[in-house]
Amino acid sequence: MSNLFPAVRPRRLRQNESLRTLFQETEFRLDDLILPIFVEEGIDDFVPISSMPGVNRIPEKMLAREIERYARAGIRSVMTFGVSHHLDDVGSDTWSENGLVARMARTCKDAVPEMVVMSDTCFCEYTSHGHCGVLHGRAVDNDATLINLGKQAVIAAAAGADFIAPSAAMDGQVLAIRGALDAAGFHDTAIMAYSTKFASSLYGPFREAGGTALKGDRKAYQMNPMNRREAVRESLLDEQEGADALMVKPAGAYLDVIADIRAASRLPLAAYQVSGEYAMIKFAGLAGAIDEGRVARESIGAIKRAGADLILTYFAMDLARDGI
Ligand code: PBG
Ligand code: ZN
Repeated sequence: MSNLFPAVRPRRLRQNESLRTLFQETEFRLDDLILPIFVEEGIDDFVPISSMPGVNRIPEKMLAREIERYARAGIRSVMTFGVSHHLDDVGSDTWSENGLVARMARTCKDAVPEMVVMSDTCFCEYTSHGHCGVLHGRAVDNDATLINLGKQAVIAAAAGADFIAPSAAMDGQVLAIRGALDAAGFHDTAIMAYSTKFASSLYGPFREAGGTALKGDRKAYQMNPMNRREAVRESLLDEQEGADALMVKPAGAYLDVIADIRAASRLPLAAYQVSGEYAMIKFAGLAGAIDEGRVARESIGAIKRAGADLILTYFAMDLARDGI
């Protein structure tokens, strides 16, 4: 008779809030989050991004004040994206000593020296064609782009960026950047590699936010979202090339990849909850279909549970304000 009933009852540990908290396996803290920000030069007012409610382009002249506000709220790190008015066919503003990449790093570090500044290192927001490098015909020239990545990295490091975060998805980009940084004496500037970056349709709202001119896609350099083994291979290559931390992007639909890389590497691992992931949660919340705050926390917790140490998320300020 009694063996009709379960001998093992996992529900015992779920009976009340105290027990549930005591036995909770995963937790994320504000200290685990990195806030991505969009900074536009030459404008006076914040520009709301309609596909990302709650996110604005920051006028460059208000950047220092914003960084101070983030720091007061408990944000420890930002990833800077520039919205440039100085486009050309190679994105040369990115390696100009007084270009937007350099100015953003300088302004952030001057405002709050202890803020960890990660400089997104790419060209798509600075090129007239919107591709992430030097375009030859219809193809992005990998090795010509490596040289420019090195130049941009040195400029960002000289301006005070703590991390160079290459997102161009070029082969050998970490090696090229490490070499350029070391040759210029920036041995202590770290590299957060976008080491497994998929050609995802979840980047849709970012196009509006970052104002890229791209027509077409990036499938010739970013990864096929259906490839799991290659995802590990890409991240391990960046580890060999000298990356200080790895990253999976996007995050929520790629938890298997996060878990695989966590198991394959001892480096710190970040995951980027991208613009489309944010928009899906935000708009579903605004429509009353889900509780935005709870789903945001659940999704970020799940990314952590899968194996990410750090999470880049546009929810970081909301979470800082509301408490985690
Ligand atoms: C481009 C870049 C993209 C994002 C970050 N850097 C877009 C892309 O690769 O098409 C996406 C970020 C987001 O969607 O939140 N180098
Ligand atoms: Zn790019």
